[in-house]
Amino acid sequence: MDSKENEMMTRVGPSTPAGETLRRYWLPVSFSHEINADAPRLVRWLGEDLVLFRDEGGRVGLMEPNCPHRGTSLEYGWIEAGGLRCCYHGWVFDVGGRCIEQPGEPAGSAFKNKIKLKAYPVTEVGGVVFAYMGPGKAPPFPRYDFLAREDGERTFAGYLRECNFLNQLDNCLDPVHATILHGREVNGTRENPERQESPEFEVLSDDLFASYVARRPGPIPGKEWHREVSYTPPILVIHDGGSLPGDPAAHFADVAWRMPVDDYNTYSFILKFFPFREGKSTIARKRNVPRPPPLMRGTRRQFDMTTVNGQDAAAQIGQGAIADRTAEHLGYSDRGVIQVRKLWMSAIDAVIRGDDPPGILRDLKSNELIHFDVIGSGRLVDKDQMLDHLPRVMRI
Ligand code: FES
Ligand SMILES: [Fe+2]
Repeated sequence: MDSKENEMMTRVGPSTPAGETLRRYWLPVSFSHEINADAPRLVRWLGEDLVLFRDEGGRVGLMEPNCPHRGTSLEYGWIEAGGLRCCYHGWVFDVGGRCIEQPGEPAGSAFKNKIKLKAYPVTEVGGVVFAYMGPGKAPPFPRYDFLAREDGERTFAGYLRECNFLNQLDNCLDPVHATILHGREVNGTRENPERQESPEFEVLSDDLFASYVARRPGPIPGKEWHREVSYTPPILVIHDGGSLPGDPAAHFADVAWRMPVDDYNTYSFILKFFPFREGKSTIARKRNVPRPPPLMRGTRRQFDMTTVNGQDAAAQIGQGAIADRTAEHLGYSDRGVIQVRKLWMSAIDAVIRGDDPPGILRDLKSNELIHFDVIGSGRLVDKDQMLDHLPRVMRI
């Protein structure tokens, strides 16, 4: 890969090829529970500083952070009067960015009608707030089943990693690293059968979806351990879609969006969905254990090399803030990585051509659910079973 292509795939700001492509999709910008009605919050996504708030009516706003009057930051404002009130002279902006009040102007003045902040459309689904930061009319929101299903519970987690989002996406279809990087010790144990042997793996892909299925010998003749991780443009990684082949009813989902904060920082939104069984919760107590704080850039000593997350952080941040892909030597084992990049590049190419990138479904019906048929991790499966595993994405 040459440096031009590397830049093209990794830079996320406005007017960059990757940045413009990312902006064609609905992207996660917060968990719902993180936006309280007391105070606005400054956030940074795709290299843009923005103010995020929830108005008194519960609606979420995401807009330019500086007041168009004399420029102070709206992060110090108050939630009131149907919007966000600037702390300096009290102008109020609604979630659409319209100025709806100017206390210092004469009564009846129409000046406020000329003032508008750039605000992005926002929608809240399944406890996650998504924004459309692109041009024109937003496409229909894709109602993934793990977000939209109401017959279960979701848990949320997240962490910041100080590297470009593609460092992290390159890692998702890379099963060999699981054996080497995570193979020595995780939480004091080496018991996991998945981490003991380098796997056989296949890379499966269509124009919407790429995944690997790693196969390791199982303890019973004719059975294998299968692990699948999939990538869906632009930033969705599914570690467990929760279904076995031929069984479209997800029993569990484990997904992550690798959301670019800017060129050098990535925030992972992690969501797990646990359907009710006979109307009851299936969330195991141990899954509610609080996670350790995010692992940041630093020396080797600062990464906890005994946890999966610490190991991944060390390896991905160790590649440099934006990995230098011009100096790589990709081998046979990197074919999943290559597939992720191909799919991401096909999305960028589509946007450059003026087309919709893959995954934008303009004909979605309002109640349609989208299900990712992913085997997930650590399943003991009949040897031939995965051959029947396509199609990968189902509209139900
Ligand atoms: S700077 Fe915001 S109202 Fe004056
Ligand atoms: Fe990993």
